[in-house]
Amino acid sequence: MRRERHAAIGVFDSGVGGLTVLKALMERLPLESTVYLGDTARVPYGTKSGEVVTQYSLANAHALAEYDVKLLVVACNTASAVALPALRAKLPIPVVGVIEPGAKVAAESSRTGKVAVIGTPGTIASGAYQKALHALRPSLEVHAQACPLFVPLAEEGWVDGDVPRLVAEEYLGRELLTGGVDTLVLGCTHYPLLSQVIHKVVGPRVTLVDSAHATADEVTRVLRDEELNRTDVRASVERHFLVTDTPNRFLEVGARFLGRPLSGARQIDLKLA
Ligand code: DGL
Repeated sequence: MRRERHAAIGVFDSGVGGLTVLKALMERLPLESTVYLGDTARVPYGTKSGEVVTQYSLANAHALAEYDVKLLVVACNTASAVALPALRAKLPIPVVGVIEPGAKVAAESSRTGKVAVIGTPGTIASGAYQKALHALRPSLEVHAQACPLFVPLAEEGWVDGDVPRLVAEEYLGRELLTGGVDTLVLGCTHYPLLSQVIHKVVGPRVTLVDSAHATADEVTRVLRDEELNRTDVRASVERHFLVTDTPNRFLEVGARFLGRPLSGARQIDLKLA
């Protein structure tokens, strides 16, 4: 790891989901090289314990260290929810998670002071979004709901039609959005793919907050503040993709998450402590 302008940004996630964050980073910071690691052999993280997710997260960071990264983005909400303190304590470079940036946008944009957050069981049980929202705006009323079935629906490409609509109605239709909630945080990498169906179910008065864009803005700010942003427009931009399972499914499903064809992912082994 190297605090130098020309080094790359490292990004890790449990699998393909973090490609929604990588996509926002590529749009916001086109001059920056990136190394993306998807821990496809161990996905999902959202139903695992905080201890195990932290152990996997440290192993991911260790693997990315070999690529000389200057900043680490924890694109996975579940890993951001449980492993940020351990990662920040161990790494000599800035570490940006997806929770604080998403919470900031939500806390600033709610007019009614009532916000809902959805995520994996691990993210919701950790209380990380609830804590971040209250730290930013203590008077906020925060409602939270785990929506585990949204992850396989997004990966299977079931993002419209009756099945995702019924699932969304089941998760979001009842108490979650009663009483004036006007902001809904999509606290999982996969949920932006379902934003149309979620929007239909929650109605036009509820604003959806996608952490990916907020995170890309935060990375931009940190790089600038730390004088780590690339400024040479002629320097070549590299994109590396690493996975821990064989790459086929990652390449196929990932193209939908990234919004462009994917090729050249390399399989690596993680060294677990
Ligand atoms: N990337 C995870 C997250 O954002 C979702 C998939 C998983 O459970 O690993 O929480």
